[in-house]
Amino acid sequence: MAMIEIEGITKRFGGVTAVDNLSLAVDAGEFLTLLGPSGCGKTTVLRMIAGLEVPDAGEIRIAGKTVFSAQRGLFVSPGKRGIGLVFQSYALWPHMSVRQNVAFGLEIRKVDPEEMKREVAEALAYMHLEGMEDRYPQQMSGGQQQRVALARMLVARPGVFLMDEPLSNLDAKLRIEMRAEIKRLHREAHATTVYVTHDQTEALTLSSRVAVMERGRLMQVAPPREIYRRPASLFVADFIGSPTINLIPGKIVRKSEGVFFDGEALSLPAPALAAHIGAEVTAAIRPEEIQIETGENEDAVSGEAYAVLPAGSETIVQIRREGRIFNVRVIGETSFDVGENLCMRFLPEAVSYFHRNGGDRIDTGRE
Ligand SMILES: Nc1ncnc2c1ncn2[C@@H]1O[C@H](COP(=O)(O)OP(=O)(O)OP(=O)(O)O)[C@@H](O)[C@H]1O
Ligand SMILES: [Mg+2]
Repeated sequence: MAMIEIEGITKRFGGVTAVDNLSLAVDAGEFLTLLGPSGCGKTTVLRMIAGLEVPDAGEIRIAGKTVFSAQRGLFVSPGKRGIGLVFQSYALWPHMSVRQNVAFGLEIRKVDPEEMKREVAEALAYMHLEGMEDRYPQQMSGGQQQRVALARMLVARPGVFLMDEPLSNLDAKLRIEMRAEIKRLHREAHATTVYVTHDQTEALTLSSRVAVMERGRLMQVAPPREIYRRPASLFVADFIGSPTINLIPGKIVRKSEGVFFDGEALSLPAPALAAHIGAEVTAAIRPEEIQIETGENEDAVSGEAYAVLPAGSETIVQIRREGRIFNVRVIGETSFDVGENLCMRFLPEAVSYFHRNGGDRIDTGRE
């Protein structure tokens, strides 16, 4: 069952179309992430679901109930939508203690004082905040404050969690810890979650589905693995992955030996593309899908080590060939020297192809 249904919503700010005729359904219990570059409209979508922003067109339903309809002139206020919000800035009340801040989430549910006390204690324990009940927000670290914000959302028991970059003010280590907390919270609370981030790792690790946005539109909505392995367009392929995917412009040609991708600094057999002879395409290969071989090798592609970038658990090796740099990811350490001759091996089934014009994926039957 769809818990949130968005149909054709548009939002303009003056001359800027922040969200452009966007439709999306989020299933009950799902963790959906809106991911995209700065300014693409993620926050605006979330604020429209919450009722903090009024769309110019379209309709929004939550749990089967219409909360906004431009056509029918209908608008349900944020407090009546059954949602919980956590933002990048923790938005805790500075004059209230941790206990009071969390209890504030219960006011709307009008529970009795004894029950309230128990639920607040439970939520604080759940977010590892025992012993901090009487502190004020300014006496806590960023991560602790964000946990208070999550506890406050938790006690209100909304059917829908909406979170806008809740981890972006935290340092790298804390971010990873809190990521795990949010994932655990979602699993146990079973609340439908819409999460906004421009951090792709966060999106890929947390979500059941990722919605990639660009300039107010949805580019692809799919599970993380599919977004990474089968990007629908050149934009998604290029936006996801670090270091970025290797993109090589070229053409599909027929040779006496078969169908080939004939690209800059690279020629690859492309038997699955026989229907696209003559097409101008871009081949895309993830850094971990290129294998490095030392010494001479018949069907491998030779190049020269341009830079070797060790990062502990992996090493990024940049290989130059005919003026083009290929990024290759190697697990662990390497002993390659800059300037050394190396061979790259490309597995044909690991290569994605996109139409250069328009950027759509060409289906090669790849899983
Ligand atoms: N209140 C506003 N008034 C005018 N323009 C706005 C307003 N809110 C957003 N915009 C514009 O709408 C577009 C989308 O903004 P939005 O905040 O939704 O982007 P975002 O994807 O959340 O970006 P970020 O990753 O930087 O938070 C931007 O061009 C922004 O400048
Ligand atoms: Mg934003």
